[in-house]
Amino acid sequence: MSPVLILYYSRHGSTKRLADAIAQGVSMENVPVILRTVASLNKEDDGEAAHNALAPVVSIQELEQCSALALGSPTRFGNMAASMKHFLDSTSNLWLKGSLIDKPACVFTSSSSMHGGQESTLLSMMLPLLHHGMVLCGLPYSEPELHNTISGGSPYGVTHVANHNLAHANQLSPDEKALCIAQGKRLAKFARQLSQKDTSEI
Ligand SMILES: Cc1cc2nc3c(=O)[nH]c(=O)nc-3n(C[C@H](O)[C@H](O)[C@H](O)COP(=O)(O)O)c2cc1C
Repeated sequence: MSPVLILYYSRHGSTKRLADAIAQGVSMENVPVILRTVASLNKEDDGEAAHNALAPVVSIQELEQCSALALGSPTRFGNMAASMKHFLDSTSNLWLKGSLIDKPACVFTSSSSMHGGQESTLLSMMLPLLHHGMVLCGLPYSEPELHNTISGGSPYGVTHVANHNLAHANQLSPDEKALCIAQGKRLAKFARQLSQKDTSEI
């Protein structure tokens, strides 16, 4: 089976922590997973990112061949980072070929404040994936942490609040981490099911 691709942009490492925890969930389903990042448009970001041992930069072939996609970006002014949008804007050949149609996908983000635009960022990342024909999967409220979290986590996708007033500013809270693992498992299950199906029957 082709790997699940976890593709993220991260400057200070919070979005990377979400990516790593989602990968853990995918692996728990015995589904192969690869972590990748996108090139930065911003020189300032390069210096910061160098400290965080980010994943290798993704290739278009890796995106084309994935069985599922988890797409993550920090919240920047209530939207995804420009570097991620720039990468997505380079995927029109895959759109023309329909390479991503019927593949499952989820989205994730980190922001510094609780109400600083996480949900708008998640929704903004869903739009290009819907244009690609991907099948979006969030998180159901059967996940208990979705009811209990006092920081990140939403039905639209997993999140982290990196507010320094919170006890877990530099790491995921236990609820955020549990939701990442649940999201990874859910994405992996859909990837397995959809890759076995003739999607013309759906
Ligand atoms: C240009 C810029 C814009 C940002 N905009 C927001 C924002 O709209 N809301 C918010 O809560 N945090 C905002 N932040 C803070 C980041 O979302 C936050 O630090 C995030 O956790 C960074 O993720 P990273 O550690 O993966 O780089 C912004 C940061 C930058 C550099």
